[in-house]
Amino acid sequence: MSDERILVVDDDTSLLTLLKMRLKSMGFVVTACGTGEDALHSAQEDPYDFAILDLRLPDVDGLDLMEELHQHQTNLPVLILTAHGCIPNAVQAMKKGAYGYLTKPFDDKELQESIDKALTTKRMGEEIHRLQLLVNELYGLDNVVARSPQMHTVLQQVARVAKTDTTICISGETGTGKEVIARIVHCNSPRASKPFMAVNCAAIPETLFESELFGHLKGSFTGAHQNKRGLIHSADKGTLFLDEIGEMPLALQGKLLRTIQNREILPVGGQVPIKIDVRILAATNKDLEQAVREGRFREDLYYRIHVVPLHLPALRDRREDIPVLAQFFLKRHGEHHHKVVKGFSPEAMQSLVTYAWPGNVRELENLIERAVVMSPQETITAEFLALSPQATKQPGSLQPLTEAKEAFERDYLKDLLGATQGNISRASQIAGRYRADFYKLLKKYGLHPSDKTTDVSTRVPPPK
Ligand SMILES: Nc1ncnc2c1ncn2[C@@H]1O[C@H](COP(=O)(O)OP(=O)(O)OP(=O)(O)O)[C@@H](O)[C@H]1O
Ligand SMILES: [Mg+2]
Repeated sequence: MSDERILVVDDDTSLLTLLKMRLKSMGFVVTACGTGEDALHSAQEDPYDFAILDLRLPDVDGLDLMEELHQHQTNLPVLILTAHGCIPNAVQAMKKGAYGYLTKPFDDKELQESIDKALTTKRMGEEIHRLQLLVNELYGLDNVVARSPQMHTVLQQVARVAKTDTTICISGETGTGKEVIARIVHCNSPRASKPFMAVNCAAIPETLFESELFGHLKGSFTGAHQNKRGLIHSADKGTLFLDEIGEMPLALQGKLLRTIQNREILPVGGQVPIKIDVRILAATNKDLEQAVREGRFREDLYYRIHVVPLHLPALRDRREDIPVLAQFFLKRHGEHHHKVVKGFSPEAMQSLVTYAWPGNVRELENLIERAVVMSPQETITAEFLALSPQATKQPGSLQPLTEAKEAFERDYLKDLLGATQGNISRASQIAGRYRADFYKLLKKYGLHPSDKTTDVSTRVPPPK
């Protein structure tokens, strides 16, 4: 039995009585009103889950009534009843925010279907809202930025599957937020209070992989001085997040498949499997289908983890998220670095929105943090972002990660020395490093406190 409350407004008393009966038999709590005024009074007292309004009422137009109801309750789904052949009215109703319309006469099935659809959409919206609150609470984020329709779809999918034990494979380019999504799934599952174990398959040397993941028994190989519990076992009752699953050695993929299917693990050197209860989430930034075609990834494992595939679109394909994310990171890093930075100049925002973001959200966050640190004003201008549309890099022009990081670090240090006029205490404070560590960094790059990038020193006033 549903206890959702429905408001029905029609001046045709026989239709009103009939509707009331039908809706009651469907399990709803129904309030029937003959005039717009009664309906408004009633809606002000207690919010409804759904409203069915006749287009023509004695005291008010049905669409005006809908607008008034929406002023009290913006997300109230409304179904408009129109007389046969009034399609233009129905179109107008939809434009003004009606969820749908029904042409009189209608049968029970049509009525039920329209209500079900509207209520499902409403519940889904509430679920996403609830999920976001939960994420804030449990995951410790003020919010997960999801403004674009693509991210709404992802969150809707998350809302649908989070509570189940389904295996999910999250794909997306580097830095798109795959781990963020994995954590949301975990935090919103019945396993939320149990461990979330993230394993980066690319970071474990191949020789150690089996023992790291499945554990080993004392004496099972040279160096195994004692029993060791594997990461899968440590995630028991919780969630195991296998990041970069495409990097898992082929030889172990079969063993993982058996673990997922039989819900048990066999430690290295063990004879008796151990029962475990984990939910598996996987992520990949590689094309796993291609890995399957090339024989680097087992097809059976591919299907086993793709029960529910979730794809995170690249940031350049959901540009609506960029301004909100930028503002979000501005606030986060402004607070972190104790700097008052309020916003971006129009040119700066323009360059953020048009840039190609090969490193996605992570790259955006790093860039904003750097701009927050370097900017002498409360408004970040385009020069502190140093982005140009040409910065849309071609794969051939990209450096290996280590070199790119070092180049960034060297430039950053030079900028920082320029901005602080070689004041090491201030520079190390901004960089969030102890003085000794900061000196080590300077030494690593052969820099001296008096070194600086000339352009920065001329544009950044000395610190107060
Ligand atoms: N929607 C979002 N809202 C707020 N922050 C986000 C969002 N998406 C990603 N981030 C932030 O961007 C950074 C990268 O996210 P995450 O580590 O989840 O990416 P990833 O896809 O797992 O990357 P990789 O493939 O490199 O492992 C993190 O600091 C995360 O907090
Ligand atoms: Mg990741």
